[in-house]
Amino acid sequence: MAPPKLHVLFCLFICLPQVHPFHWQDPPPLDFRAPAWFHKIQAVMSTGSSGHSKIPKGNGSYPVGSADLMFGYTNESIFLRLYYPSEDHERLDTVWIPNKEYFFGLSKFLGTPHFIGKFLNFLYGSMKTPASWNSPLKTGEKYPLIVFSHGLGGFRTIYSAIGIGLASYGFIVAAVEHRDGSASATYYFDDQVAAKADNKSWLYLKLLKQEEEERVRKEQVRQRAKECSRALSAILDLAYGNPKENILDSDFDLEHLKGAIDGDKIAVIGHSFGGATVIQTLSEDQRFKCGIALDPWMYPVSEELHSKIPQPLFFINSAQFQSSKSIEKMKKFYEPGKERKMITIRGSVHQNFADFTFVTGKIIGNKLTLKGEIDSRVAMDLTEKASLAFLQKHLGLHKDFNQWDPLVEGHDKNLIRGPPSSVVAQSLALQHSPESHAQN
Ligand SMILES: *[C@@H]1O[C@H](CO)[C@@H](O)[C@H](O)[C@H]1NC(C)=O
Ligand SMILES: *[C@@H]1O[C@H](CO)[C@@H](O)[C@H](O)[C@H]1NC(C)=O
Ligand SMILES: *[C@@H]1O[C@H](CO)[C@@H](O)[C@H](O)[C@H]1NC(C)=O
Repeated sequence: MAPPKLHVLFCLFICLPQVHPFHWQDPPPLDFRAPAWFHKIQAVMSTGSSGHSKIPKGNGSYPVGSADLMFGYTNESIFLRLYYPSEDHERLDTVWIPNKEYFFGLSKFLGTPHFIGKFLNFLYGSMKTPASWNSPLKTGEKYPLIVFSHGLGGFRTIYSAIGIGLASYGFIVAAVEHRDGSASATYYFDDQVAAKADNKSWLYLKLLKQEEEERVRKEQVRQRAKECSRALSAILDLAYGNPKENILDSDFDLEHLKGAIDGDKIAVIGHSFGGATVIQTLSEDQRFKCGIALDPWMYPVSEELHSKIPQPLFFINSAQFQSSKSIEKMKKFYEPGKERKMITIRGSVHQNFADFTFVTGKIIGNKLTLKGEIDSRVAMDLTEKASLAFLQKHLGLHKDFNQWDPLVEGHDKNLIRGPPSSVVAQSLALQHSPESHAQN
């Protein structure tokens, strides 16, 4: 073991009693407890294989590229990570989490001391995802576009498995980073001078008091929806040939986006808080032709939205996250004449949709509820294929994704049609389980 690791190990044990739990304040009432933290720290320590990517390559036929784009200044700027069909086959060199501040933010989100962030940076700071950084977009084709919204405590880079997966099947995926105080961390530039000097202004996760929870979450979901719409507008501007400056110092050639997007084939997908954002976005912006909510956090979703979403909507749930109350809320969206689908992945957990499910080993991943009983790759494969079938149908794509139509109806040994089979029993079990964890 290298000396820096020993040092960290020592600190971990000294500082363990200072770990303050971060409270997740909505049903399901999951929270962090010290024993859970002990496992988390153990887990992190046992995965010291930095640099080596465990995030799966896309299964589709397109090689995938990735680039970061930022348009405008201040906290009103648009920030996103793009995954796209690329010319380049070789380099799989996209840095997964590119700034140490994101690790500090994660450590704040998890309620751990600052040095845990340093430790996470040490372990994961150089890890790569299987996409070619800034490689040229493959031109000569019009691609459908997906705007992707992250969960609470997330940020633009931690859904690379699904982003790369969908891009490998011929989509352009724009994973936005939200500036509503729900990201573990994000940054912007105050002005042109700051951007030229690479003087970042960091914005960290906003911790809420219980009494402001409901009001602020509802404000946040509205801001998130606006950010999805503005990200879409920015990308469509480029697609229609209106010049726009990427204020990041980047080699990605924006010119290639010109003529590369089919403006009628646009969808929104998101996980958890991002699932709530999908619902809000569909209700506000009809340019999005359909949406997929991955294990949505229903708490911030306003009641009055039920009647405001004409577009098709697909819920893909994990087996463990949804309470009976939130299932009831989802079912209200089933109105006559509207296209609604819901499946549940057996043996999956809430974090099966984010990259963290791929970066720990099996035993540890199970303990941390980053992994479920189902193999993480199988769960991701089902999520992607069911999504592709749904997208083909509702965006009118001419591909062969309809071969997976049965998955949308839950026809697979690992799927359930509709909500988790025993929601009530499960949420009760969770409430009484010492192994419960905060989830985003
Ligand atoms: C963005 O910045 C303005 C001005 O500094 C501030 O009033 C506003 O609260 C900020 N918004 C967020 C989401 O931080
Ligand atoms: C960076 O920007 C901040 C304002 O956000 C300013 O106070 C500071 O002086 C700047 N630092 C440098 C090195 O320009
Ligand atoms: C890719 O396809 C293989 C073979 O069908 C499957 O086992 C694997 O889970 C898939 N990977 C992903 C990430 O979908």
